[in-house]
Amino acid sequence: MHATIVVLPGDGIGPEVTVAAVSILQSVAQRYGHQFDFHECDIGGIAIDKTGEPLPVATLNAAKQADAVLLGAVGGPKWSDPSAKVRPEQGLLAIRRALGLFANLRPVRPHPAALDASPIKSELLQDVDIMVVRELTGGIYFGEKKRTTDSASDLCSYSQLEIERVVRTAATLARQRRGHLVSVDKANVLETSRLWREVTARVISEEFPDVKLEHQLVDSMAMLLLARPRDYDVIVTENMFGDILTDEASMLAGSLGLLPSASLGEGQAGLYEPIHGSAPDIAGKGIANPYATILSAAMLLRHSLGMDDEAAAIERAVDESLKAGVFTPDLARGGTSVSTEAATQSVMERI
Ligand code: IPM
Ligand code: MG
Repeated sequence: MHATIVVLPGDGIGPEVTVAAVSILQSVAQRYGHQFDFHECDIGGIAIDKTGEPLPVATLNAAKQADAVLLGAVGGPKWSDPSAKVRPEQGLLAIRRALGLFANLRPVRPHPAALDASPIKSELLQDVDIMVVRELTGGIYFGEKKRTTDSASDLCSYSQLEIERVVRTAATLARQRRGHLVSVDKANVLETSRLWREVTARVISEEFPDVKLEHQLVDSMAMLLLARPRDYDVIVTENMFGDILTDEASMLAGSLGLLPSASLGEGQAGLYEPIHGSAPDIAGKGIANPYATILSAAMLLRHSLGMDDEAAAIERAVDESLKAGVFTPDLARGGTSVSTEAATQSVMERI
């Protein structure tokens, strides 16, 4: 098969982890007889430096035409001036929105070999397998922002349609998994959450009667996620709650550097990125964990290109690398660690 993949390295460790994932995709292509054309474009801080825009038109057009997009990370201290008019993060939000990628899939599966990297007791982590589906193009991230000298506001709004479509994505996944869906909101306080709860309940009872639905308040969910993570299958929630809960959930897996994500819309195309950020503190040192981006590339193969075997081959190779103790410093917790390149090489050899 022939596919076009747009690569957006971005800032900080973004370029290091995308180079790693692209080399893995190249070896998959070779091994399985596919042809992948990679087009690299700018996004985020580097795009601001070159063009003044965090999402240049050329980047968006290339992304729209591609079969899939692989992204590193955006942002860094250089562009963090609070009074700046343009910010790298705007590029990421704009591309998610422009491509209609309303569902962000963030799987959390602690690896048996990396349990020690987690601050949570290992016995709580056995068999944890959670899929968080985060709404990605609505809510407080995209509502009107206002600012005067002494006050500021961010509007949070959701429409029924925005809730329905992401709930359908989550329920479809729950059906393919263990059939259990938890919808997370703050319905005791927020009007948007009351709509969220109402619409979710209706979609599930009308269209997914076989899926078991449970509602949780976000504060309580934050606690339950650490207290009994094994009890959860698919979690669906709004944009900001999903952002926060998945950083928390990454600690179940031991490191932010292990969590991939897929951002999907109605069609086959999607955007794939690690959930971690640009980590400016370690950028350029060659020690960033490439596994999250490599696993995002596996999700790309599965969801956008329909290559289940190839995706599984990458996931197996990462699993084996972890089992062999091939850890970057974030996982090694002071023990022996390897570079980004060595970790990538180890995955490549196992494909
Ligand atoms: C994420 C990140 C982004 C978000 C930032 C960089 C805008 O934290 O993908 O989780 O908040 O969505
Ligand atoms: Mg985040």
